[in-house]
Amino acid sequence: MQMLGLIRKKRDGGEHSPGELAWLVQGITSGRLPDYQVAAWCMAVYFQGMSPREVKSFTLEMAASGEQLDLSALPQPVIDKHSSGGVGDKTTLVLAPLIAAAGVPVCKMSGRGLGHTGGTIDKLESITGFRVELSREEFIRQARAIGIALTAQSEELCPADKILYALRDATGTVESIPLIAASIMSKKLAGGAGGFVLDVKVGNGAFMKDLEEAEVLAQLMVAIGKGTGKETVAVLTGMDQPLGRAAGNALEVREAIAFLRGETTPDLLEVSLALGTQMLKLAGVVASQEEGREKLRRLLFSGRGLEVFAQWVAAQGGDPRVVDKPELLPAAPVVRPVFSPGKGFVGGMAADLLGQVVTDLGAGRKRKEDIIDPAVGLVFRKKPGEPVEPGEPLVEIHARTEKQATEAGRAVLQAIKVTPEPPSFPKPLIYGYVV
Ligand code: URA
Repeated sequence: MQMLGLIRKKRDGGEHSPGELAWLVQGITSGRLPDYQVAAWCMAVYFQGMSPREVKSFTLEMAASGEQLDLSALPQPVIDKHSSGGVGDKTTLVLAPLIAAAGVPVCKMSGRGLGHTGGTIDKLESITGFRVELSREEFIRQARAIGIALTAQSEELCPADKILYALRDATGTVESIPLIAASIMSKKLAGGAGGFVLDVKVGNGAFMKDLEEAEVLAQLMVAIGKGTGKETVAVLTGMDQPLGRAAGNALEVREAIAFLRGETTPDLLEVSLALGTQMLKLAGVVASQEEGREKLRRLLFSGRGLEVFAQWVAAQGGDPRVVDKPELLPAAPVVRPVFSPGKGFVGGMAADLLGQVVTDLGAGRKRKEDIIDPAVGLVFRKKPGEPVEPGEPLVEIHARTEKQATEAGRAVLQAIKVTPEPPSFPKPLIYGYVV
C-alpha cells in the first residue's frame, strides 16, 4: 500500500476499506509515515469527510493502537462521562463522588486543559499532594476500595491519537467532525468502561459553535459507541457562558467543594443532574429521569457526595483538610474586582473570551510544556440575567501580578455585556439528548 494512493483516494471523495485504515493507523503509530503525508490526508478528510463505516473502523484501529484497559475486576457496569470541553466545567469533580456514592464505580482517565478549555487533571493537581498518575494496579485497587479512581491519560493509551492530534492542531484540521469523533471515542473505548455519557458542549466557548454541528458530532459518537456494543448517550449542553461561578484550577475545586456542601449554582446543578441521571440510567440504578435527579439530590444535600470526595482526595494522597478548609488551596496574591460600568442586567458572557483571559492569567497552557498557575482565574459574581448596579462587582480577578490583573480587567469588560433589559431569549443549558 502507498500513502500517496490513500491521500488521492480521500482527496477525490473515495471510501477507505478497513484494511487501508488499519495500515494507516499502524503507519502513524510506528512513525513510518511522514508527517506531511498524514497532514495532507487529514486535510482531505476535513474537506471530504468520512462515511460512518470508515469512522467506526478508524476509531477501533486508534483504540487498539496502544494499551487498552481491562476493568472487568470491578463491579459492572462502569460508566464513563466525557465532556467535549468548556470553560468552568467542573462537572467531573462534583459528579464522580455523587455517582460513586450511588454505588456505581467511577474509573476515569482524564485529560489536561486543551486551548482555552480546562482539564480535570489540572484542577485536581491544585490540591496539595494529589497524585494524578496511578499505576494500573493502584487504579483498580482504589476503585474497588472506595468506588472512585481518576488518573491522567497514560502515554500508552491511543498513541495514534496523540500523534494525529498534534498534527491536526498544527494544520487547521482539528475542526473535522469525523476526526473529533474518532479521537474522543478511541480514547473512551481504550479506557475500558461499559457505557458512556457524552457531554457535547455547544456555544461560543465550545469546539462546536452551533447546534446542528454539535448534533452531527453527538450522533456520530453515539453510533460509534453503540456499534461497538457499548451503551452510549449524548447530552447537548450550552457553553455560551462559563459553567458555575469560577474558572481556574483551585478556584474550581473550591466551587466544587462548596457545591458538594449544598451551596449550588443553578447552571452547574442543572447540567450535573442531567449528566448524572444519564449515568445512573445506563448503570441500571434508576429507571427514570425523575428517579435519577431525586437520588442525586439526596446524595448531594445529605453531604454523602462530600464524604466520598474527601475519601477520594485522601486515597490519592491529597490533603483532605481542604474539604473543611478550602482556604488551604493555592490562593493568588492579587484579588481585584471588575465593577459594572452601568445599571441593568448581565446580558451575555463570551465564554471563549473569558476562557482566554483565564489562560492568559496562567491557568491554562499556550504550549504543551507550559507550567500552569493553580491559583489564578476568575470568579463570576454575576451571571446572565442577573441584575447589576453601577459599581457592583461583576467579576473577581485572581492574578499573580497587578499588571496581569489590569490586563484581565480590560478583557473581562469586553467579554461581558451589561444591557438595560434582561436577555429576552436566554440560551438553553440543555439542548437535548441523542440516544
Ligand atoms: N477532544 C479530543 O479528545 N479530541 C478532539 O479531536 C477534540 C476534542
